[in-house]
Amino acid sequence: MVGIVMRLDVFTLFPEMFNGPFDASIIRRACESGRVVINVHNIRDYATDRHKMTDDTPYGGGGGMVMKPEPIWNAVEAVLGADPPRGSQAPPIILLTPQGRLFTQAVARALTTHEQLLLICGRYEGVDERVRQHLVTDEISIGDYVLTGGEIPAMVIVDAIVRLMPGVLGDPGATTDDSHASGLLEYPHYTRPAVYRGHPVPQVLLSGHHAEVDRWRRREALRRTRRRRPDLLDRADLSQADRELLRQLENEDE
Ligand SMILES: C[S@@+](CC[C@H](N)C(=O)[O-])C[C@H]1O[C@@H](n2cnc3c(N)ncnc32)[C@H](O)[C@@H]1O
Repeated sequence: MVGIVMRLDVFTLFPEMFNGPFDASIIRRACESGRVVINVHNIRDYATDRHKMTDDTPYGGGGGMVMKPEPIWNAVEAVLGADPPRGSQAPPIILLTPQGRLFTQAVARALTTHEQLLLICGRYEGVDERVRQHLVTDEISIGDYVLTGGEIPAMVIVDAIVRLMPGVLGDPGATTDDSHASGLLEYPHYTRPAVYRGHPVPQVLLSGHHAEVDRWRRREALRRTRRRRPDLLDRADLSQADRELLRQLENEDE
């Protein structure tokens, strides 16, 4: 039985870029199972002039090209209709831009609540400002750096969202311990052999004692977060027991 279905519409000048990443592994299976429908639209198909122009020189001069508003608008309207719905029920129209709000696990989880998402990939100097002002409803950046286009950011967002959807990963609890899911980095993982090149697996993981394993994992998640990303601890949802473990870890360091 197919669970929740999400439709993702990606708008790009380079649809061929999506062939590899969307045709393999978990995303492919999610599409084949019908849980996710991904449509990649070529913005050029919606250009109306003879030369199928999708970009032009910037008003005011200067270098680079700017993506024209009409082909993007036409493409979005072809999917949503001429009068796109607004309000909380409307599918978010997301512009990928280094100027957007930062993409995090919490943003990914919030986006899974929608039945449909539209993702617009910019190129060159970016898109005409009127697209940002009057068409899109959200702007997302995947980090404080500038890429050549919004295609890789769109792939990052689709990947992060799809794996959170119910039924996509084999183990339904697989994402709950992931780094950033609860505000902490995840604990370390080991698999066979129990000793590799003289390096043993921590004994507790071989004990079969589930409560001890859980406690060890929580402690290691806290230890790792404290060492690598102490900033996350300020926002993490910590229990009394977690705070006690953190105190112990502090004492260990002294
Ligand atoms: C070269 S960038 C344009 C950057 C733009 N001139 C600026 O300074 O804000 C071309 C396109 O790549 C995408 N892009 C680049 N870096 C990104 C990032 N960190 N997150 C999301 N999209 C990004 C956007 O779609 C952008 O329109």
